[in-house]
Order: sequence, then C-alpha cells, then structure tokens
Amino acid sequence: MARVLSCIQPTGPVHLGNYLGALVNWVSGQNRNDVFHGIVDLHALTVTDKPGVIGDQTLQLAAVLFAVGLDPKVATVFVQSHIPAHSQLGWIMECTVSYGELSRMTQFKDKQSKREAEFVSAGLFTYPALQAADILLYDAEEVPVGDDQKQHIEITRDIAMRFNHRFGETFVIPKAVTPPVGARVMDLQDPTSKMSKSTESDAGCVYLLDSPEAIMKKFKRAVTDSDNEVIYDREKKPGVSNLLDILSASTGTAPQALAGQYSQYGKLKSDCGEAVVSILQPIQARYTNLISDPSQLHEMLSVGAIRAEAIAQKTLQRAQQAIGMTPRR
Ligand code: TYM
Repeated sequence: MARVLSCIQPTGPVHLGNYLGALVNWVSGQNRNDVFHGIVDLHALTVTDKPGVIGDQTLQLAAVLFAVGLDPKVATVFVQSHIPAHSQLGWIMECTVSYGELSRMTQFKDKQSKREAEFVSAGLFTYPALQAADILLYDAEEVPVGDDQKQHIEITRDIAMRFNHRFGETFVIPKAVTPPVGARVMDLQDPTSKMSKSTESDAGCVYLLDSPEAIMKKFKRAVTDSDNEVIYDREKKPGVSNLLDILSASTGTAPQALAGQYSQYGKLKSDCGEAVVSILQPIQARYTNLISDPSQLHEMLSVGAIRAEAIAQKTLQRAQQAIGMTPRR
C-alpha cells in the first residue's frame, strides 16, 4: 500500500482537465493506497484579493471531491489551512530552495505573464516551496497529477534530497504519477493550450457542473481542422487528438483504436460530448445533495483534518529536530 498525496486549488469551478488528469486517479487509488487529498486554500491566496470568496469555493470544492467518489471512510480529505504544519514546513522549504530554481518554474512564468496588469504576489513565486511542504509532510511516495504539475514534483524531489543531504534522512522522495490518457486535456477552442480555469473564454473549458446542453454545445463547437480526417496525432492534429483523448479517457478504449471508428468530425464531437455528459450527470446529482448540507461537509472535512494533522505534525517535528531547532519546553 503506497502513501499517496495530491491536492487541488479552490480557485474556481473544477473542469474536465482536473477530473481526467487527476481526480479519476485519486478515486481509483483510494481502495489500494493510503490517500491524502488537500484543498489547498493557502495556495489559492496567491491570487485572492476579494473577501468572502475563498471559503465558499473551498466548500464547493469539497462537495465536488466527495461527489466524484472520494470516500471519507478511506480517503483523508482536508483543507490545507486547517493544518498549520503546512505553513510552518513551507517556510523551511523556502529556505531549502533557491531563487534560481524558483525562477525556472514554467507555471510561475505562465501565471505572471497572464496577470500582466494585475498584482503578482511573492507567494506566486514561492508557491512550489509550499507545494513541496504539502507533499513531504505526508511522506508521500506517489503524487497523482496532470502533466502540468510534473515540474513541481521534480523540484519537490530536489528540495527533499537537498534537505536530507544537509540535515540527515528526513523526507521520503516522492514521484509523480500521471494517467496514460487525460494527463493533458487541451482547451476545446485552442487545442494547443491546456484546458484551464484562467482562460478568458469559457467556450473551450468544460466544467464538471456544466449543464448537459452546455457540454454538448462546447463539444460541437470544438476547434478541429479542415481536412476532416480522423487521425490520432497530437502534433499535427491537436484538436482531433484532444477529442480522441477525452473519449478514450471516458470510455477506456485507446485513442488510436477510436480514431479508426470515425470518418467524420461531427460524429466524434457528439459522441465525445455524450460520453462526458453520461460521466458527469451522476456526479452532478451527488454534488447537489452534498452542497445542500454544509454542516455535513464541515464534519467530513474535520474528520479529514484530524487524520491529516496527526501525520503532518509528526513530520514537521522530525524536520525541526533534524535541523536542530530548540524545542519549546
Ligand atoms: P490545480 O488546482 O491547478 O489542478 C488540480 C489537478 O488537476 C490537474 N490538471 C490537469 N490535468 C490534465 N489536463 C489539464 N488541462 C489539467 N489542468 C489541471 C493538475 O495537474 C492537478 O493535478 N499546484 C497544484 C495544487 C497543489 C498540489 C500540491 C498538487 C498544491 N499542492 C501537492 C499535488 C501535490 C495546482 O495548482 O493544481
């Protein structure tokens, strides 16, 4: 049984990329592994500037995580800010990573350029140090993520190895685990960019709580190309290949095999939309139930916080002892 940790930010509605790239693996792993999943509200603070939003988004995200199938009896689902050890180890990690390493993070460069005229917080820059703390606190061996997070897991490994080298064996060295298909779901309107909450238009981003009509419309309008040949080639035919990947992740049939079954884009688009709708409908029904009972959600999160804190606190102490900090008596 592997120790697994992965987290998601409460920065907006969950989309199909989050689901196929990460959440599906979280759910399928929960019965064979010891799994921890965090709603990382401290990370979301890097881009939060309005009061009263983050708490609602945290609760909505909790409802989504339970609705997709995380079972609080076996999976530990917690809110990052409920466990102070994240901030505490986060600082130690900031002191274990270099400015140069953080400067090379493509996610930071991307986010910084997208925020052009907006406030770019120092937290956005030091973000990977807090992410390293999230992972290392739980002695995680595996981190199930989409492709875009691989660099953050790599830097976590580097930080952990540096810490172990400086202060003695303290942290488990984690590895990223990505799904065979769905690790990089692309925007339906711009299939050369990944599907993301931060794109300007919603037309290319399918949200888990979109209505069936909206989902079908987004797929029918998906950008493909003009030659109308269904071939799986992510470089030359990114739009068609993205649809085949989504259909493959939704049905379990390999994208190359699916390509052979279609001669027209129209049918591929509508089949893709229908497959996604049929996966999302039961999730939406469970979401509606869960979100109608906030006190039950709070209760589920508090059970998670107790389990997570017990482990995180021990690891933090181990790290402080390894450094040789004076304990409080
Ligand atoms: P976040 O909140 O952006 O995304 C959550 C998960 O969804 C995956 N994902 C995708 N997968 C496939 N295709 C896409 N278009 C797509 N977009 C998002 C992400 O790879 C991720 O697995 N920094 C992290 C949150 C985090 C974290 C952690 C993750 C904080 N601490 C510790 C793992 C371990 C993030 O912003 O994910």
